[in-house]
Amino acid sequence: MQVIDTVAGFRKALDQERAAGRSVGLVPTMGFLHDGHASLMRRAAAECDVVAVTVFVNPLQFGANEDLDSYPRDLDGDVARAAANGATYVFAPTTAEMYPTPMLTSVRVGAVSEPLEGHARPGHFDGVATVVAKLFAIAGTCRAYFGEKDFQQLAVVRRMAADLSLPVDVIGCPTVREPDGLAMSSRNAYLTAEERAVAPTLRQALGAGRRLIEETGERDPAAVRAAMASVINAEPRFELDYAEVVDPGDLSTPAVLAGEVRLLVAARLGRARLIDNISATADPDTTGASR
Ligand code: PAJ
Repeated sequence: MQVIDTVAGFRKALDQERAAGRSVGLVPTMGFLHDGHASLMRRAAAECDVVAVTVFVNPLQFGANEDLDSYPRDLDGDVARAAANGATYVFAPTTAEMYPTPMLTSVRVGAVSEPLEGHARPGHFDGVATVVAKLFAIAGTCRAYFGEKDFQQLAVVRRMAADLSLPVDVIGCPTVREPDGLAMSSRNAYLTAEERAVAPTLRQALGAGRRLIEETGERDPAAVRAAMASVINAEPRFELDYAEVVDPGDLSTPAVLAGEVRLLVAARLGRARLIDNISATADPDTTGASR
């Protein structure tokens, strides 16, 4: 496995792989790699001839009061983990290498980036879309693997790649969880032992929302939001940001739940801001099941 830190070197390596007839799988990350990231690498390795993992903590996607400076970093650990999970290249540029001059160009994806995380973190998805567009431009034709853990990010990236006709197939991969249900995240490192013990509440809130839809037959989004919020608010260490149920395609809130929907929650827990989501099906057969 090769570690590359220049844009030109990374572009050349992947161009040479394609010239030799090999397909490229790209796994963009901010490092501090865990089993969630590893699942993306293994999927890429199963589907592509070479796997390129990028490790770059992108300043553009952090707000002024967010955790850019304290974001956990461990490049040596990341290189070892990437090698163990089938990576061929790790691209780990410095900020100066990625942004040699102040960026005058920004990529903004409309509607789909506005609610939820977009509302809670103004400018965040502009930073994500801009760095991912740049990574796609450097990497060239490839399949790129993203986690459903960041469900709205996946939707934003898909739309960005389609709108800009980038030669990249965006592939969504399921969320990897700890045994107690907590979604794996680099930011879980911020949790104290006491906070870590209650963190699975987020997944439990999503489960309560899903049961209300699939077993009780609830079709009113407000009732589902309230049920999820009450599970999170029952644990005083949490500060709820949002609990929502949306259309998985455009992330709009339907008036009445029908078919496949996505439940999403975000909450602060100590120093960490955690997000999670699951799917649910508002099947016509269960409508009003309890009524
Ligand atoms: P990061 O948070 O490091 O995540 C990198 C990729 O790993 C994302 O696609 C994310 O959805 C996925 N991922 C994280 N936790 C996961 C889990 N528990 N299960 C499955 N996949 C998981 O997301 C980013 O970095 C950045 O915004 C980035 C796209 C790299 C742009 O800077």
